[in-house]
Amino acid sequence: MLKDLVNKNRSYRRFFEDQPVSKDTLVELVKLARLCPTAANKQPLRFILSCDPADNGRIFPYLKWAGYIKGWGGPKEGERPAAYIVIVGDTDVTSDYSWGDQSIAAQTMLLGAVEKGLGGCIIGSIDKPGLCTSIMIHSRYQVLLVVALGKPKEQVAVDDIKDGDVKYWRDENEIHHVPKRRTEDLILSLLQNPSSQDRMS
Ligand SMILES: Cc1cc2nc3c(=O)[nH]c(=O)nc-3n(C[C@H](O)[C@H](O)[C@H](O)COP(=O)(O)O)c2cc1C
Repeated sequence: MLKDLVNKNRSYRRFFEDQPVSKDTLVELVKLARLCPTAANKQPLRFILSCDPADNGRIFPYLKWAGYIKGWGGPKEGERPAAYIVIVGDTDVTSDYSWGDQSIAAQTMLLGAVEKGLGGCIIGSIDKPGLCTSIMIHSRYQVLLVVALGKPKEQVAVDDIKDGDVKYWRDENEIHHVPKRRTEDLILSLLQNPSSQDRMS
């Protein structure tokens, strides 16, 4: 069920690094991204795939992990992602309305990964010049997001938010807790057109 997939699709940041993610799996995920909505149907997104440990090592140093967890510099060796999909925009194709495309593609690929027993994290905090140099991205392409992927090695719990504090945290058992606002606090109102009410009565 979609609800189960969405529930399971947490942001995972620690992985069994020795459990590989194949090139074929990454291509399957890009096939999902290909079918996603894109503003004005411009389809500006391009994808750089990495699943080889040496190549992964060219990406990892340029990503910033879990800013709210102070003193944690990201996953240690052995717990790093086994693969990455770098989402870039083709500046020859992109439009002013393309800003949402990369997030839809990233989330769709993550849902596909979860369905395959994997998990991952969207990374937007990127040393973009460093990454461009490291993996030699042509200036025509703008780095937008990185999707880190692997077999999750951590447990993530979703909690009801307390006192409006959105900061995720880790407990003594290394469980990562993510506070979420309550549904009733997200829905501002239900518009009720008086004429439609008339029709209902
Ligand atoms: C556009 C976007 C950018 C993000 N960038 C980062 C990032 O740079 N580093 C990171 O550790 N997590 C990043 N995240 C993950 C969020 O921190 C995460 O979604 C949030 O804490 C809620 O957790 P959940 O995904 O398990 O619901 C990003 C998420 C989104 C949607």
